[in-house]
Amino acid sequence: MRDPANSPFTPGYGILPQVWAGREREFRDFDEVVVPRTRNRTYEQARVVTGNRGVGKTVFLAQLADEAGDADDLTVQVTARTGTHVVTELIGSLARVLHRTSAAAAVTDALDATLRRSIGLTVSSSGVRVDLGAAPPAKELPGLADPLARLLERVAREAADRGRMLLVTVDEAQNIDPAALEVLCHTLADVQNRHDRTRGPHGEAVRAYLPLGVYLAGLPSLPDRIRTSGSTFFERSLPLDFGLLRAPDVQAAIRGMLSNVEVGIEPEALDLLVDHVGGYPYFLHLYGKHAWTAGSSDVVTLSDVEAAIVEATTDLGRFYGERVRGLGDLAYDWLVAAARLPTTERTTGNVAAELGRTSSQLGSTVDALLGRGLIRHEPGRGRFSFAVPGLDRYLTSGR
Ligand SMILES: Nc1ncnc2c1ncn2[C@@H]1O[C@H](COP(=O)(O)OP(=O)(O)OP(=O)(O)O)[C@@H](O)[C@H]1O
Ligand SMILES: [Mg+2]
Repeated sequence: MRDPANSPFTPGYGILPQVWAGREREFRDFDEVVVPRTRNRTYEQARVVTGNRGVGKTVFLAQLADEAGDADDLTVQVTARTGTHVVTELIGSLARVLHRTSAAAAVTDALDATLRRSIGLTVSSSGVRVDLGAAPPAKELPGLADPLARLLERVAREAADRGRMLLVTVDEAQNIDPAALEVLCHTLADVQNRHDRTRGPHGEAVRAYLPLGVYLAGLPSLPDRIRTSGSTFFERSLPLDFGLLRAPDVQAAIRGMLSNVEVGIEPEALDLLVDHVGGYPYFLHLYGKHAWTAGSSDVVTLSDVEAAIVEATTDLGRFYGERVRGLGDLAYDWLVAAARLPTTERTTGNVAAELGRTSSQLGSTVDALLGRGLIRHEPGRGRFSFAVPGLDRYLTSGR
């Protein structure tokens, strides 16, 4: 039955899709490399997931944590806010897991009273509470590295005792202040390197690493932010670069979503839908939803998809409006000027000339736009493209 109540499409952010489009390689890496090696206490590099807004970083991390949790691994997921909160949030989340999985005294053993007071962490029979209001001042951060490492090790050992791993995910990591990023990356790498010396089946010396799996995710500016924080974490990690989805993957996912609810789609309708999605996961759900609600037969038709393209206009306006909300006038003008140029002409010099300025006067504006994930460098000197699909069309559409 095709009615709005049972639509398989879920427009929004951070919503686990019912059917995944693409990302097989990244899931396989987790299932076949990260999980078995980490549980087996073999050293495995941290993964750094980067990609523009809406490409599916958050849902990827959530899916991994779900799968790990279902398999009785221990998981800690934090989403970073601007500032230095992430360190205390991670300490708090680890303390909660430790409280749940081992003796109640384990948390108070691992974190002394002064430290608990300084980060606003209280332990009671009902659980662990952390006052997440205040971010630690940068000068206190080095003092938190040690307790963070101690907790990571303690919880990883708890997992090791059960033949499982501890999976730590940090989302929106581009938000973290450099001082906190340095402490975070340094500590995670330090604990991943900790090992016990044991003997293998033939009496040979073997290193049993702590079973700690690490995923950091953020906008494409994240690697640079990690580097400038002074940490070598990124060089030692394995990057997973999330680009747009491939058309055949979008096609297969749409077909799969529909067939799960016993609805078909005409081939021309599917082609047009895939074309408008442009590989962007968010649009898959947006156009999909409108195509779904455009009719009630058990086949989605070409005219349903044509109607969806019109219907989606309002949502798209809101979507792009959100993306550029709060930008200063100069940054906004920069985007509009770039959008008016042909794609091959979008260089800092050309945009500056359009605005009657020099490139160097606009350096911080360009940095801010890159940092917000609105534009990205293209290979080739000074060329940029819009990181959010269709944003250029929206900016020049004369709303
Ligand atoms: N591979 C995929 N298949 C199907 N749907 C997906 C896929 N990836 C993402 N989505 C959908 O797209 C939406 C956006 O994904 P998500 O919130 O994970 O993006 P993000 O990269 O974390 O964006 P941001 O940088 O803004 O946080 C989600 O609600 C999800 O349902
Ligand atoms: Mg996200």
